[in-house]
Amino acid sequence: MKATAIAPANIALIKYWGRKDAKLRLPANPSISMNLSACITTTTVEFSSDFENDVVTEGFDNRRILDHIDRIRNMAGKKESVHIVTNNSFPTSAGIASSASGFAALTVAAATALNLQLSEKELSALARLGSGSASRSIPDGFVKWEGEYAHSLYPPDWWDLLDIIVILATKAKKISSSVGHDRAGSSPFFLKRLEALPERIARLETALKTKNFPMLGQVIEEDCLDMHHVMQTQNPPLYYWNEETKEVIKTIRGLPACFTIDAGSNVHVICEAKNEENVIRKLRKYQLIVNKPALGAHII
Ligand code: DP6
Repeated sequence: MKATAIAPANIALIKYWGRKDAKLRLPANPSISMNLSACITTTTVEFSSDFENDVVTEGFDNRRILDHIDRIRNMAGKKESVHIVTNNSFPTSAGIASSASGFAALTVAAATALNLQLSEKELSALARLGSGSASRSIPDGFVKWEGEYAHSLYPPDWWDLLDIIVILATKAKKISSSVGHDRAGSSPFFLKRLEALPERIARLETALKTKNFPMLGQVIEEDCLDMHHVMQTQNPPLYYWNEETKEVIKTIRGLPACFTIDAGSNVHVICEAKNEENVIRKLRKYQLIVNKPALGAHII
């Protein structure tokens, strides 16, 4: 009753912000993301009647992890204790969300160790209950999450896009995105963003389908700024940007690249692989993590 899974983090091109149902983590809106090849979580899960109690690698949010394990154990009708060992390929202190890759890897490893035969849809929906964005780390490549689960729009080799993460944050963020989602509706701009999204999502889908980089850049910057506008005007307000964030945005102006930012100060600079050198030259004073589109979660 042991299995090891790997799962990528993902960067949202259209963001998930706010929920219809907090407990079930049902999103207020559909979101679209790309899996990240260099931000991987590896998780080994073992259940055994020889274990006296549940043990999780230190340094992680153990309560939330064990609540998720309880959910999966209940599904399988099992009672054995669990030992979990998990590692990230990226520094957890770097301000890159590890909940997406973490809950996706945990879901696939635990479901396999308990011999639950779940489809990709079922794994995505189950990962969602641990962390909303984890639902998008189950399918491959470019992924859309609507309602209960996510599905792949295109495989990783569809388009040679890169996500060059400029690492600015070194401390864990003060307010978790889980808490932020619950207050999103208090922004006077929350409903305005939801109204704008169907047309924006259609534009992103066209940009992905036709591999139109300028169109992609315009849509993802627009949605990033719109989400941060909501965040900054909710009660209490959430400011994730700092002076360096703005400096990086200014640095990439004029380059064949665009930016997006999640619930942290790091900037994700997106470009086509053919422009990698050109973009990296401008960013060489920063710590960078260069990601290609990646497969979703799987057993190794
Ligand atoms: C800003 O998936 O971390 O990164 O469901 O509470 O775990 P929980 O939230 P989480 O939220 C991610 C928010 C975001 C945008 C995105 O990834 O879509």
